[in-house]
Amino acid sequence: MTDAVLILRGLEELYPEMRFIERLRCCVETYPDLNWGDAMSRGQMTSKLWILHQLQMNDKVRLGRVAICGGWLGLLSRLILDSDRIHTTHVHSMDIDLAVTIAAGELNSEYIIGDQFTSTLTNCHDVYYGDYDTIINTSCEHFSDFGHWWEKIPDGKFVVLQSNDFTEIEDHVDYVLSAGELAAKAGLTEVKFMGSLPCYGYTRFMVMGVK
Ligand SMILES: C[S@@+](CC[C@H](N)C(=O)[O-])C[C@H]1O[C@@H](n2cnc3c(N)ncnc32)[C@H](O)[C@@H]1O
Repeated sequence: MTDAVLILRGLEELYPEMRFIERLRCCVETYPDLNWGDAMSRGQMTSKLWILHQLQMNDKVRLGRVAICGGWLGLLSRLILDSDRIHTTHVHSMDIDLAVTIAAGELNSEYIIGDQFTSTLTNCHDVYYGDYDTIINTSCEHFSDFGHWWEKIPDGKFVVLQSNDFTEIEDHVDYVLSAGELAAKAGLTEVKFMGSLPCYGYTRFMVMGVK
């Protein structure tokens, strides 16, 4: 058993009321080869909490039907669904990687039972977004053709976009160097929030508003 699983087991004993810890331990144990360390890193976690915080600050707490593009291991989905301040009718996490899609489903398993969550193997370039109220993409730097994906989002949708300036990572095929650059790419009709967050070695940028 890995140290990560042992630590999570201890945390499970300390905080038995927190389903999230039990789910995370189960996922790390079942899928040890997935990149949990990166997904749970300080930079990733503060970036996700930044979204929840800014949604509340901007009085945007009713998100309706949510699409999370490049949803990865489902941590943002979990944080949104666990939040008692952010309300959703459904969260749909989409990713082109089958292994992470399955793990995201297990991390959020109790919400699948209540039909509050789905995780599917989906190329976000091929989705009809008309059925969603809110579209979140915290993986913009990973999207090979941001412009093509962005064209799929209908005007009037509420969107949350994150990208970063971590240029050394090969998979970061479409990074930006400022929040202004991200905002310019999106060209929102109404900007609710735009800002930068220092993330322990790189900077994350976020824009939220109406397309
Ligand atoms: C490393 S992860 C997420 C990083 C990001 N900072 C975050 O925390 O959300 C990027 C994810 O985007 C997914 N991805 C990239 N292109 C995609 C596409 N066209 N459709 C769906 N998922 C995509 C990858 O498979 C990967 O799981």
